[in-house]
Amino acid sequence: MKAVGLHQYLPIDHPEALVDLTLPVPTPGAHDLLVQVEAISVNPVDAKVRAQKSPPPAGPRVLGWDAAGTVVAVGSAVNRFVVGDAVYFAGDITRAGSNAQFVLVDERITGPKPASLGFAEAAALPLTAITAWEALFDRLGLLPTPAADSPQRGQSILIIGAGGGVGSIAVQLAVAAGLTVVGTASRAESVNWVRELGAAHVVDHHQPLRPQLDALGVGEVNHVLLLADTDTHFAALPSVLKPQGRACGIVENAQPLDLNLLKAKSLGFVWEMMFTRSMFQTPDMAAQHALLAEVARRIDAGSLRSTLREVVGTINATHLRDVHRRIESAHTTGKLVLAGW
Ligand SMILES: NC(=O)c1ccc[n+]([C@@H]2O[C@H](COP(=O)([O-])OP(=O)(O)OC[C@H]3O[C@@H](n4cnc5c(N)ncnc54)[C@H](OP(=O)(O)O)[C@@H]3O)[C@@H](O)[C@H]2O)c1
Repeated sequence: MKAVGLHQYLPIDHPEALVDLTLPVPTPGAHDLLVQVEAISVNPVDAKVRAQKSPPPAGPRVLGWDAAGTVVAVGSAVNRFVVGDAVYFAGDITRAGSNAQFVLVDERITGPKPASLGFAEAAALPLTAITAWEALFDRLGLLPTPAADSPQRGQSILIIGAGGGVGSIAVQLAVAAGLTVVGTASRAESVNWVRELGAAHVVDHHQPLRPQLDALGVGEVNHVLLLADTDTHFAALPSVLKPQGRACGIVENAQPLDLNLLKAKSLGFVWEMMFTRSMFQTPDMAAQHALLAEVARRIDAGSLRSTLREVVGTINATHLRDVHRRIESAHTTGKLVLAGW
């Protein structure tokens, strides 16, 4: 099969940072689907895993986790899908990735592709949808669809980095959960995109946040989703959160974080890592199947939209290097996708 991968971890401008490969088609284990990949999207984690380091991997390494495609074989314990089903998934970081014509994925972390979307639009979604869903509903404990009289309705959330892949889904899920969303974005394109997705307000993450919230009449918020630059924005949590508010972070910090900052207001901080369930094979890992199915249902019902911004080209090393370079800039909006071989 064709695949794109690496023999060495190199900077993206090196011509061998990602290369075209020919590899054997893998064989499914008990819970696996063998999926023929039709489209992939690229996430910052792909670039972080590819980034320059040593030693090199033992053999050619295929990266990439977001994909959409068709099931062509199933393992002996599979009971959610059959051959011919169209699926979308973000896979497991401990296994070979989806930048290949065929990939194995555990059915418990795989969703049925939204029927109303093509493969490219579907491939844009899974990793960011899992992250946003788990952050809002599993980590911050919010309700996906609160009752009409739920106190959650009318609460506020600040989504820092709202125009990126994760933010683009998080804004939509938070609006659907009855929250007043304040998103952050710093460029005209991302500001407009965040408004289009349903945010009530947009503020600039390169300016102090609390004065901007005050100027809007929002003041302190109930919740924060911290999707970028944890080192800088963590220190702002005590000023932007109401007493007893909670924040969820998804990006590792480079400097130590001062937890004492959160004490006076009894604030909470929790991490979301979307590979936790697959990496540790948690008993509830099929929650990712369920949430991807729910995201597909909402897409097909028209209450959620794909965050695809651009199909950059077919799946090959040249196009993938281009997308990695753009993702490394940290200023893309929505999702970039490669489709077809
Ligand atoms: N823990 C997990 O499970 C998990 C899952 C997915 C992603 N992540 C991580 O989360 C981060 C975001 O992922 P993503 O897919 O949304 O990335 P992305 O699509 O590359 O995010 C790009 C967005 O980040 C915004 N941004 C850039 N610098 C910022 C800053 N200093 N403060 C606030 N926003 C800033 C940009 O907004 P402007 O262009 O408007 O400035 C841009 O819209 C990445 O570091 C990724 O590795 C973690």
